[in-house]
Amino acid sequence: MPNNKNIILIGFMGVGKGSVAREIIKISEYMSVDTDDLIESMENRTVKKIFEQEGEAYFRNLEKKISLWLENCVKNTLISTGGGFYKQENLKDIGVVVFLNSPFDKILKRIKSHPNASKKLKKRPLLNDLKKAKELYKERLPEYMAVADIVIDVTDKSALECAKELLKKVKEHA
Ligand code: S3P
Repeated sequence: MPNNKNIILIGFMGVGKGSVAREIIKISEYMSVDTDDLIESMENRTVKKIFEQEGEAYFRNLEKKISLWLENCVKNTLISTGGGFYKQENLKDIGVVVFLNSPFDKILKRIKSHPNASKKLKKRPLLNDLKKAKELYKERLPEYMAVADIVIDVTDKSALECAKELLKKVKEHA
């Protein structure tokens, strides 16, 4: 492991944070956690249900709780995050921030080409309205860029290629 720091993966819904994380753990010593998975197990219900039953603010509070736990208790770990987690104030104190980037249309194409495409779209409340999702992407892009230590363009690359590029860049960044 290049240093004791966590790697924190940020990026828009559907860009492939989970897929890249799964490749990284195959080819390195990192273990990974995913903030949405943590929330779902804490709550014993899906993110979709949490949004429906409690609203977005409640979900963001859970993300805040997780961000504090990550900062204080987790190290040497690859952390993949939900698309809005990058707003946590202590993001940079959690680890090296890696932004996975791709144009909105390419992200959509990636989701739609998946065998479980409709499930992937349905489970993400903020992707229900694609026009609004595109606006959200435009709004967030400069914010993702601003908070990132490392940017990886994932367009037309396999998850394995992205994973290798990421590990190389993290090593150089150390
Ligand atoms: C969100 C992204 C989702 C999930 C929630 C909110 C967002 O995660 O955390 O639906 O605000 O962009 P993915 O990026 O894994 O889809």
